[in-house]
Parts: sequence; structure tokens; C-alpha cells
Amino acid sequence: MKSLASLLDKRVLFLGGKGGVGKTTCASAMALAASRAGRRVLLVSTDPAHSTADIFEQPIGPEAVPLLPNLHGLEIDGAFEARHYVARVKDQIKDLFGHHILKEANKQIDLAASMPGAEEMALFDRIGALVRGDDPRFDLIVFDTAPTGHTLRLIRMPELMEAWIRALSKSRHAMLGIEQDDKSDPVMISLTDRLEGLREFRAQLLSPRTTAFVLVLVAERLPIEETARAIDQLKEAGVTIGGLVVNRVLPATSPDPFLRSRHQQEQVYLDEIDRRFGAHGKVRVPQLPSDVHGVKTLESIAEMLLTETQKHRNTENSLLKP
Ligand SMILES: Nc1ncnc2c1ncn2[C@@H]1O[C@H](COP(=O)(O)OP(=O)(O)OP(=O)(O)O)[C@@H](O)[C@H]1O
Ligand SMILES: [Mg+2]
Repeated sequence: MKSLASLLDKRVLFLGGKGGVGKTTCASAMALAASRAGRRVLLVSTDPAHSTADIFEQPIGPEAVPLLPNLHGLEIDGAFEARHYVARVKDQIKDLFGHHILKEANKQIDLAASMPGAEEMALFDRIGALVRGDDPRFDLIVFDTAPTGHTLRLIRMPELMEAWIRALSKSRHAMLGIEQDDKSDPVMISLTDRLEGLREFRAQLLSPRTTAFVLVLVAERLPIEETARAIDQLKEAGVTIGGLVVNRVLPATSPDPFLRSRHQQEQVYLDEIDRRFGAHGKVRVPQLPSDVHGVKTLESIAEMLLTETQKHRNTENSLLKP
């Protein structure tokens, strides 16, 4: 089976999938492996229910914190980003207007920031900056994402936003008329800047050399269907699919009749996964005897994700033995 090793050379990795399938576990394992290989890695959680801190057994927040050599962690928080964004915008306009207009403008900004979608927007902005490579401290950004729907929406956002900003620029241009130069208009400058940023974000997102999306699933009916939908949507968006991780595969042989029966059922789904997603590289990760905590377990998961195997991994892995 193909491993995910080649993905460690990318600059941006997204790990996505249905709730609870092992996105955080696999993102953390990939990030750890890349950092061991000497890349300077930032592991970013975009899921409001952050759990990277649990895995690394140390607090992580909205600013990058060192976790291990070459590895930093960051938990993006929409509310925090929105507050930061508001402060930045207020700072930018404070010299542009007089006291009265400024007071009114600030009120409008506060209002806009409390609108539904504002936090998601701020989250999206921060992700955009990271994808563009604005932080020179890191060579690889690994995104541990929220369950699929949310993430796919984020991935379509640069495209949608571009169209929106272009329309805004057009109406601003019409408003300014021919007498005034676009280049000296602060609104136009800000719109143009934003458009540039979005274009760059999208270019990096769609570049197969830069970005890959890894889909994590378990061998069950609903995750398979969700993966099929995600593959379609990613393809449509033009994002490269780096491979699939089939997590929590049960042991092939077991003295326990319950596990044997579960495994038989699982085998049907594993065959279906091979059949339906044959075009994509896949790795299997066995069900471990306990939850994934700490560096040791992550190391073994990373090894499974990155080692090429002749056939399906023997799930009678030593890890399964308590
Ligand atoms: N191969 C495995 N063997 C045993 N336990 C696992 C395995 N993979 C993940 N787990 C455990 O399953 C739970 C869910 O994993 P994880 O948090 O990585 O999933 P997730 O997709 O990020 O979930 P969420 O959608 O809630 O963010 C965790 O308790 C984790 O320790
Ligand atoms: Mg998670």
C-alpha cells in the first residue's frame, strides 16, 4: 500500500473527515513525523472543540506555542480572531476620519463584528494568512480541521470571496467616477489588497505542489458516504487529495467471537473502500487498545501512516497487545 510519506514535503496539509474518525490523531502524528524529519511544523486546530492540547498534554492557544523541537501548536479561535480583526480595522481607520465620523464608524464595525458569520470570516482570514505562508517561522502547516462540511465551505470561500470583492470594487469604481484615481482611494486600496490576498490564498490552496487534503475515515457506512461526497467536492474545488487514512481497523484474527464477527462485517466495508476509492492512496491504521495520548503512541501511528507496506498492514500489530 502507498504511504503518505511524500506528503511531508508539502507546505500545507489538511486532515478532514467525519466527526470522531481520527482527524486530530492523524494530523498530530503527521505533524510530529514531519518535525522529526527536520521540517519546522505548525499544527493548527481549526475545530472549535480543540483537542490537540489533550493529545500533546499541554495547553495550546490562539498564538503558536512550542510543543516539541521543530513543532508548534496553534488553536484558532473564531471569537479571538474576530476581536483582533476589529481592533486592527479600528486602528487602520483612526487617522482617516475626524472624531465624530470615527465614533460612528467604530459603532458600525462593532455591529458588523457581532453579525452571524463574522467569527467564521475571521477564522478564514487567519487560515488564509497561514496558507499563504505569511509566518516565516514554519515550512509546513498541518490543519486539523472540523468535521467535513465546515472545512469544505472554508475551502470554497476564497473563490466566493473573490467574486464578492470584485463586485464591491466595481461598484466603488463606478462611485468614484472617472475623475478620481482608484489608486489613491483608501477603500479601493483596501479592496485591491484583499483581492490580492485571496488570489494568493487560492493559488496556494490549488497548487498540488503546495497543498494536499488527507481524508480520514473508518470502515463504516456513513463515513464512507461522507468520504465519497468530500472527494467529489474537493475535486470540484480543484484541491489535491493526498490520500485516505482508514482508521481503527480491527484485528483480522482474534480468539474473541465478537471481534471476529465485527471484523467480518468490517471486511465488507474495507473492500468497498478499496473498490470505490481505488484511485487514491490509502493507509490502514489498526484499532489500538486505548485512546491516543502522548508522543509515544503518536510515533507509532506516524510510522503506520508513513511506511510503505507490500499488502494491507497486518492488523495483528504488536501495538494491539496490551
Ligand atoms: N487507531 C485508533 N485506535 C484507538 N483509538 C483511536 C484511534 N484513532 C483515534 N482514536 C481515539 O478516538 C477518539 C477520536 O479521535 P480523534 O480525536 O483523533 O478524532 P477526530 O476526527 O479529530 O474527532 P472530532 O471530529 O471530534 O474532532 C480519540 O479519543 C482518539 O484517542
Ligand atoms: Mg478532532
